Order: sequence, then structure tokens, then C-alpha cells
Amino acid sequence: MRRVQAAERLQWKGEVILFRRYRDDFWLSDLSTLWTDTQSGGFRQSDKLYVVQTPAKVIERCMLMTTDPGDLVFDPTCGSGTTAYVAEQWGRRWITTDTSRVAVAIARQRLLTAKFEQYKTKAPGTGHQALGGGGSANPGAGFNYKTVPHVTLKSIAQNVALDPIVAKHEPKLDAALKTANAELAKVKPELRTKLAVKLAAKEKAEGKRAVTDADRRRWVLPPENRDKSAKLTVDAKFSGWYHWEVPFDTDPDWPKALAEAVTAYRAAWRAKMDEVNACIAASAEQEELVDQPEVVRGITRVSGPFTVEAVQPPEMSLGDAMDIGFEGEPDALETGFSAPREVSRVNELEVHNVAAYLDQMFRFIKADGVRFLNNRQMAWSRLEPLFEQGSARGASFHAEGRWTPVGEKDSDPDAGCNVGVVFGPQYGPVTAKMVEESIRAGNRAGYDAVVVAGFSFDGAATGIISENEEGVPGKGGRMLRVHLAHIRPDINPGMNGLLKESPKPGAGQLFTVFGQPRITLRKSKAEEGLLEVEMEGVDVYDPVRDKHEPTDASKVAAWFLDSDYDGRTFCITQAFFPDRGAWEKLAKALNGKDGPIDAERFEAFSGTVSLPFPAGKNKCVAVKVIDPRGNEVMAVERV
Ligand SMILES: C[S@@+](CC[C@H](N)C(=O)[O-])C[C@H]1O[C@@H](n2cnc3c(N)ncnc32)[C@H](O)[C@@H]1O
Repeated sequence: MRRVQAAERLQWKGEVILFRRYRDDFWLSDLSTLWTDTQSGGFRQSDKLYVVQTPAKVIERCMLMTTDPGDLVFDPTCGSGTTAYVAEQWGRRWITTDTSRVAVAIARQRLLTAKFEQYKTKAPGTGHQALGGGGSANPGAGFNYKTVPHVTLKSIAQNVALDPIVAKHEPKLDAALKTANAELAKVKPELRTKLAVKLAAKEKAEGKRAVTDADRRRWVLPPENRDKSAKLTVDAKFSGWYHWEVPFDTDPDWPKALAEAVTAYRAAWRAKMDEVNACIAASAEQEELVDQPEVVRGITRVSGPFTVEAVQPPEMSLGDAMDIGFEGEPDALETGFSAPREVSRVNELEVHNVAAYLDQMFRFIKADGVRFLNNRQMAWSRLEPLFEQGSARGASFHAEGRWTPVGEKDSDPDAGCNVGVVFGPQYGPVTAKMVEESIRAGNRAGYDAVVVAGFSFDGAATGIISENEEGVPGKGGRMLRVHLAHIRPDINPGMNGLLKESPKPGAGQLFTVFGQPRITLRKSKAEEGLLEVEMEGVDVYDPVRDKHEPTDASKVAAWFLDSDYDGRTFCITQAFFPDRGAWEKLAKALNGKDGPIDAERFEAFSGTVSLPFPAGKNKCVAVKVIDPRGNEVMAVERV
């Protein structure tokens, strides 16, 4: 306590002793729970990608407060990917999820085209020398942050180096005080009154709050300067100054000798305090400012590698999808598959939960119909549930009916049902096996069309459709059309209670048929021994004109290649954005002195032909395309 007092870091308020921290000791302050600085600016219109996007500064502060570089951050509601973006910027690893394909598509593009500053990492010598960083390639080593000395009460109280400084200066200050008090004793009552009038005048003119501590010290001389009600441990009637009362400046009305004595005292005091402060700063702990890492100039950083995955397929079905043919007579399949069983296997739901799920899906699709490209919609002239019956067809299909384009009448309403409907599992993707079995059963039933509706589809399931674009040959030479329809995720009964508002049947766009990428896999023209893929667009079936409508490749926002698809996880090995706008910002940022660092490469990134690649060990390539409605569609090809 004595040391802290000698260092002039104590003050009192009433009977409470307080630690006095000077601004130079630590000019920063802790953040409170009120963050007013995160609101300012908001978004420039061009920066906003998503309607409910969170400002990066908010997420950044949360992340810097709670994690270190290299930590793993999880945001279950990805949206436009602000959390992942901020995590990339600050060297955190991340996982993020969203029920919306649109959100995931936006986030992916945001991350792929983002650019960041390079921060200097702590551990020396493991790889970034070439980049001028000099630190570790792993941000988990921590960044080199700006530091500031943080003077604490403890660091002063325990600083023994202060003692000799205080001991050296104390006699000098005592002597200076003695001289000043001798001059003070010579002050006449008239001057005291004159000074008191100055104080009163200032109070009157500018208000009580305008009167400073310095004014009082100058104008109210001891012992009048002391609070009479205060319990003092020193003599309250002492007519000289105590050390802590000496004025900081002088008044022109003071006698010259008094002014000189006080000035001399303050000079001696300054000399002591300069030495004391330097000693305190030298032993202070350094505080890292975790939002101010050292930037390595001249380096533009991009996102690290990442993958985007749909719900993990529960089974491997690529092989089946590739080898199975549907020509000629269908296989005799006694029982077909049972989707309720499939659902219960995946989720271990009670049977009545499965029935409730199917009932809800049936009501939605009956009211809503099925939507195709360009908002063409098929409506049911009739649709019957089959899942409640014990019929053979009921084992393969959940509903059957007849449909017509919206607004048209069914020309033969009494004819038999010609469209079968199957719902995928409540959780997990539609697999190739389910699609194959519904094709077989659809052929046996003599349907014209089968709708397989699901919350997600594994790559092999969509692969079957891409191999049988014009339909699957069925009974009597007729073709069976198979439509894969995405179910809007928020009508999953699993979301009940999670949403503010659940969509009602008839809300529209609940079941949307998605198209297939058209791709060609061939030997690379550019490099011998390698392969290349051309993405030619997306085909979507137009039910009104009974034709596959191609969507031009240039309309595709993004497409991705996995040059060695393992049938489960799509790993992007090449990414392309025919929509050039996305790359422009990054291309500009990577400009060298003589223009883009690699103009040709950037040209290729907006193209529709992949870069040459070798055949991988899985002998299989997959292409994922974001179709014009934000659906992810995928084609798989054997090498
Ligand atoms: C407010 S937004 C998040 C915005 C995000 N922080 C950003 O900066 O863009 C909420 C997101 O959560 C998604 N979502 C809603 N319910 C969900 C659920 N049960 N599981 C996963 N994502 C969900 C929505 O699709 C939406 O994209």
C-alpha cells in the first residue's frame, strides 16, 4: 500500500480508498455488454449477400472473445456464411450448416472468392518465409499481436525497484514543500479573500461543475481547503499544504516568491514521477490486442480448402447405380421396397411417426402439386394415398394419381392412375436403391411417370436420372419418366416448433423437380494422358411440352468437379463460375504490377471446360452444378 501511495496511484472518495489508474498506464478499457460500435456503417448495398446477413463485426467480436487461432467454430445457421468467413479471416477452423440450399450456395461462393490479409504467426521457421511472414504455416501457433503495457495495481505494489527511487526523491520533495509552506505563511488575509472571490465569480459565471481541482488548489488555501466533515488522520487545522494538496499551477495574484516555491516543488515532483512512471511501465505486463494482429504486407490470402456436403448418405450405392439397366422386362420383384421401413431404419421412429410423416407429405403434395422449370406446375386431378393400404403397390409407392398442367382439364379423368409418388426418408437422402426400385415398380404398375420426392439425394441417385434422361423403357415400349423433386426443408415435421411460421399446404414451391447437369467426359485436348470434363448446362424436363429443356451453360452460377468421386463425399477439386462477376473482385485483388497474376487461369475459372486432370483411384468423376433455382444437381460418370 505504501509503495502504491508513494507512486501516487491512490486516491480516496469519502472513506473509500481507490486505485488511481492514469490513462498512460493503460488507455484501453474492457468491453461491456453494450456494443454500439457494431451498428455503425451497416452494409454497403453491394456487400450484402443475404437478406438476414449478420454484420461481420459482431461475429468477429464473439469469435475473438471466445476462441484462439486454430480453434474450431461451429455455426448451425450458416446463412451467407459470415461465421465461416470471419473464421477464415482469423485463422479458426469452421463447420457450418443450413437447411437452405440457397444459403449454402451463397456461402460457398462468398468463401471461394473471399480475400484476406496475411497475419504474421508466432512459431518461427516452418514455411512462410517465402511469403515474407517468417512464422508457422499453422495459424494455431497464434498470431503476432500488437501489445500494450498493462499497469495493474499488483504490478506496482510488488515492484521493489520503486523503493530506491522514492527514497531518493522524498527528502528533496520534503525540502521543497517546506520552502513553499514558508512562503504560504506570508500570504495576507486580503489575498485569501481576493482568491476566494475569483472562485465565486467563476462558479457564478460558469456553474459549479466548471470549477476544477486545479482552480480550488490555486484559490482556496489551507486550512480552508479541507472538508470539515471529513475524518482526517492528519491535523485538519494545519495552515500549510500537505504533499497531496500542493497546487499544480500558480495564480498571477500570488506573491512572486510563493509562485516560485510552488513551481520548484512541482518540478521536483515531476522529476520523481517521471522516474516512477518509467519504472512502473518497464515492469508492466504486456497485453496482447487480439484484434490487432501484425499484417504481412504485400500478400493476399484466400480461403483454405473446404468441402460442402449434403446429409451423409447412409449407404454406398454408386456401384448399383452404375451397373443397373432398366431396359426390357422389369425384374420380378415380389415385395418391392418399403419406404416406411427405410424411414424407420434410418431414424428408428415409431411406426405411427412414420405414418404421420407420410400423411403430412401426402397432404402437402396433394395441395401443392409439383413444380418444374419456369414455374410450370402439374396439379393433381386426383391423388390417392397408398401407404395406409396393404396392397402390393402400396409397398412400393406412397401415393398414385393423375396430373395435368395447372389450368388444364384431365382429358380422361376415369382412366387408371398413371403417376406414382414416393417420399424419401424424413432424415437422410434418397438413395440410388430407392430410385431403382421405384422405377421397377413403376414399370410393373404401368405408370407414365414416377415422382421421387426427398429432402436430399445422394449423388448416385441423381446419377441414375442423368443416365436415363429420356425416361426408362417400360412395358409395351412406353417410356417411364422419373422426376426427382426436392421437398422444401421447412415442411419436414422434424422442424415443427422450430420455425416461427410453418408453410401451409398450397403455399407453393414445396416440391420442385430439379434437372441434371449435361456433361461430357473426354480425353484432354490440351494434355495427353489426362482427362477433361465439359459442363454443357442443365437439363430440366418441361412437363407441358413433354421435352427436356436445356439451360445454357452460361446461365449456371457455379459448377464444381470432383475428379475422383468416391460415391459418398463430393470433394471439390476444381470450381468454376461462368458468372464472371464473382471472380472479378478476387482477380483485381490478385493483380500484380503488370495486370492480373494469371489472366489465363482466371479466364479458365469462368469457363465450362475443366482443367486437365488424371484419372483417380475411384475411376469416377462427379460434376455438381448450382442450377438457376439454387438447387444443387449432380452428374456422375465412370472413367
Ligand atoms: C439469420 S440467418 C443466419 C445469417 C448468418 N449469420 C449470416 O450472416 O448470413 C438463419 C439461417 O438459419 C437457417 N436455418 C433455420 N432453421 C434452421 C435449422 N433448423 N437448421 C439449420 N439451419 C436453419 C436459415 O435457412 C437461415 O439461413
